[in-house]
Amino acid sequence: MTIRVFAPASMGNVSVGFDVLGGALAPIDGSLLGDFVTISAIKSGIEVNTVGSFAHKLPSDPKLNILYDCAVQYHVKLDKKGQSYDGVCLTLEKELPVGSGLGSSAASVVAALYALNEFYDNALTSSQLLLLMGELEGTISGSVHFDNVAPSYLGGLQLMVQRGDTLCSTIPHFEDWYWVVAYSGVKVSTAQAREIMPKQVPLKTALAFGQNLAAFIDASHRGDSELAASCLVDVIAEPVRGDIISKFSENKAAMLDLGAMASGISGSGPTLFAVTDNVTKAEQLQQYLMQHYIQNDDGFSHICKLDTQGARRETSRGTV
Ligand code: HSE
Repeated sequence: MTIRVFAPASMGNVSVGFDVLGGALAPIDGSLLGDFVTISAIKSGIEVNTVGSFAHKLPSDPKLNILYDCAVQYHVKLDKKGQSYDGVCLTLEKELPVGSGLGSSAASVVAALYALNEFYDNALTSSQLLLLMGELEGTISGSVHFDNVAPSYLGGLQLMVQRGDTLCSTIPHFEDWYWVVAYSGVKVSTAQAREIMPKQVPLKTALAFGQNLAAFIDASHRGDSELAASCLVDVIAEPVRGDIISKFSENKAAMLDLGAMASGISGSGPTLFAVTDNVTKAEQLQQYLMQHYIQNDDGFSHICKLDTQGARRETSRGTV
């Protein structure tokens, strides 16, 4: 049996919800932006192979690949359940650039663990699987945060709730919003981008964060697009990270001048996003970013909507 899984790219924070809000991305041209993992049975052990556009950026030793840890940890869970297993071969098609702010490591982890769970007849519940995804992604990014793995796994816009068994909640999103994303091509390490974050914030900042996030969630539930867009403000990370991301500030200002409803950093950057509800405007914003923000051949831009499916099995004919 061979199973192939796709896990979409994701945008952590969405400006307003540092570490607690994230959205999965689907380019409107129908292309798939994310990573793929194929799993098949072998006699024993764990084998990991890497292919794809960004495979050359990964460690050459398969044991240092996060997929190896995914399989080890999944097997530990099976051990605890008293369930036996043989060997597995995992092949990662690495299509997301590492250190882009598009949830690259999350997409690999989500695709791998989703594939393992399908392979083992869904031995773990959805909550157990998501917890494991968060833990494994945290080993790469420096600390556990679910705002990439949750949307990549479940799709849509996910708010981390983390109350008992309820890890996250799907927030209604505006169907007519376009998310224009542009990766500059310059790598930013998430672990380093987290290290520079302040350990404490002033009370005024904490109040602004709470108010923005609460107002955004409320406006999303009430379908108030204008209010929701006005709440997409980052008072926590952008003031620190905006300065170290080359060309971010001037390009964000240009997005707003050109009529974007909001603009900010996707995850820990350097990918920049801009929101509009007009497809012609989205194309203009994208053109601008392609000319002014992308800095080398690794860079790219997509006009996206939110991916509402999240991780899924793929066949040669498409999703099953
Ligand atoms: N919330 C995380 C951060 C996302 O901003 O560090 C990383 O992609």
